[in-house]
Amino acid sequence: MEPDILKSNIEPSIILAIESSCDETSAAVIKDGQVLSNIIANQKVHESYGGVVPELASREHQKNIVPVIAEALNLAKVTKKDLNAVAFTRGPGLLGALLVGTSFAKSLALGLNIPLIEVNHMQAHVLAHFIDTPKPKFPFLCLTVSGGHTQIVLVKDYLTMEVIGETIDDAVGEAFDKTAKLLGLPYPGGPLIDKYAQEGNPHAFPFPEVTMEKLNYSFSGIKTNILYFLRDKVKENPKFIEENMADICASIQYTLVRILLNKVKKAAKETGIRQVAIAGGVSANSGLREALKEMAQKHRWKVFIPKFEYCTDNAAMIAIAGYYKYQAEEFTSQNVSALPRMKF
Ligand code: KG4
Ligand code: ZN
Repeated sequence: MEPDILKSNIEPSIILAIESSCDETSAAVIKDGQVLSNIIANQKVHESYGGVVPELASREHQKNIVPVIAEALNLAKVTKKDLNAVAFTRGPGLLGALLVGTSFAKSLALGLNIPLIEVNHMQAHVLAHFIDTPKPKFPFLCLTVSGGHTQIVLVKDYLTMEVIGETIDDAVGEAFDKTAKLLGLPYPGGPLIDKYAQEGNPHAFPFPEVTMEKLNYSFSGIKTNILYFLRDKVKENPKFIEENMADICASIQYTLVRILLNKVKKAAKETGIRQVAIAGGVSANSGLREALKEMAQKHRWKVFIPKFEYCTDNAAMIAIAGYYKYQAEEFTSQNVSALPRMKF
């Protein structure tokens, strides 16, 4: 039997949100737009493989999902019976990983006879800006940068967004992680490049940039440039990487951040929009945060940078997206399935 979705109570609303698109199992509870809990279980199992292993990710989600949800409900001091809806990440992401959260959310909503709300993971990264204050006003631009995506999003409303620029190959998070792997750093290497970069000279090794047309990006060429650069240097001096780690990381980070922000500058100019936000895992990068603030000062933009805990994958952002969909009464049928390549 389908839940009676027409019987939703718009206020008060208590929603459980579930995120399982990649390697974080997360659950959050939101009450009338206020996040009450946000529990995240990281999967350490991938570290030694140099990237997320999909099969292992699904198994870890399977193991973590019950205790993570129980903890989120406990911390929020609500029981399953208090819930008015269940929100979940439908995509984009890894199929097996998404299926764990999707199946759990469907079963719970069916069992409790409450509405089910599907959430687009990338839209949720953008909406993370509405968890706390200050909140951006519409329309604004959001540079959404993660391990799987690099997009410039024109945000017209909570649920109306348009991708106006994106990568044609690797995501910038992948560029961080893959170059970190070339340096012998464990997965995910992005935060480690950030850490070493803080001690290094960003101009030590100037790497050429690949410029794409319009507002698009390409990051696979830069990864190859760095690969050849390191290969030549290590041939001359086998200890080149360990002796120059900070300078190499600072130079890589400087190049990637400059590529990202050049297109944001172009997007702001073309659209005339002066409110710029960043979202997604790579928005935790200190070089990006600093460079954006500087650029904002120069161009008199208002910038929005999320708290660290809301940059990388978390269910609080699924919860806030679920909240706005609940208000709009955008519910999902029990026939829904995970969508690994979900678009906006
Ligand atoms: O949004 P997210 O947690 O998961 C995806 O949806 O992909 O993003 C993960 C990505 C990884 O590539 C990770 O290396 C990168 O975000 N990342 C960083 C930093 N923190 C996370 N990259 C650079 N600097 C950081 N501080
Ligand atoms: Zn993400």
